Amino acid sequence: MSYIDVSDLSFGYTDDSLLFSNITLSFNLGEQVAIIGQNGSGKTTFVKLLNGMLKPQKGRISISGESTSDKSIADIATKIGFVFQNPNQMLFTNTVEKELALSLFRLNIGKKEKDLRIDEMLNFFDLEHYRNTHPRNLSRGEKQKLALATVLIQEPQAIILDEPFSGIDFKQRENLAKYIQILSEEGKLIILITHNIDSILENCSRVIALTEGQITYDLPINDFLMDKTSLSKIGLLPTNYLKMLYKLRNIGLPREIYRKKDLIEYFKQTLKL
Ligand SMILES: Nc1ncnc2c1ncn2[C@@H]1O[C@H](COP(=O)(O)OP(=O)(O)OP(=O)(O)O)[C@@H](O)[C@H]1O
Ligand SMILES: [Mg+2]
Repeated sequence: MSYIDVSDLSFGYTDDSLLFSNITLSFNLGEQVAIIGQNGSGKTTFVKLLNGMLKPQKGRISISGESTSDKSIADIATKIGFVFQNPNQMLFTNTVEKELALSLFRLNIGKKEKDLRIDEMLNFFDLEHYRNTHPRNLSRGEKQKLALATVLIQEPQAIILDEPFSGIDFKQRENLAKYIQILSEEGKLIILITHNIDSILENCSRVIALTEGQITYDLPINDFLMDKTSLSKIGLLPTNYLKMLYKLRNIGLPREIYRKKDLIEYFKQTLKL
């Protein structure tokens, strides 16, 4: 049994045309999974099925062996946290602190534990000095962090992030990647929807590619990188970083080196810097 099991899932926004037909796949704790595909290929729809915002026409989704069909979205949110594409869709109250408290509202935990978790999140995301600020007045990157905090505070074992790297600057992107890394090291399941292919190399161990609701492939990151046509198969272009990696592989770069920091380390050693 995996943490999330999807079996024989079919879904369409209208009854006469299905977007997904008979999809079966599983997600394990500790994995970092990228879901990639062109605009409209079904990435967001798929994860909305996982978190109960949409209900399948056919098939079963279970978390730790328990079917989600009779569970509410709020129940599922304590098991699979979901960070929306647009953080504004997730923020409802008039202070950062209240926003975090709202996420804990339904959980059966005492005030002391709630206060502790709020403090922890403010500290973890470096938002302490914004405790009484209106979320509307936060920058885009800060809103993104707050949205992530409202999810993590519920301590779900799986976290889905839909396009977390869009609209934030390089520094915030690095920070977010760092948080994702910490969560992975804690053994959580991370599902990352992204158009940022380079970020997959840094953060993911498995890549699922969608084309018009079909799974074109579902591969460990190494196999994804072995095939130079991985991206063109789903109508995407390789990034400059990937092109460079392919060229370096042709002249002997070991296959296990593809992350930026490993590449830098490799060159430091080979060039004796
Ligand atoms: N609420 C809806 N009602 C009807 N059709 C929808 C709805 N939401 C999405 N679709 C359609 O379902 C398909 C998949 O959309 P989805 O948003 O899942 O794609 P995506 O891969 O997340 O795209 P993007 O990269 O642009 O975010 C598209 O053809 C889209 O037009
Ligand atoms: Mg989407």
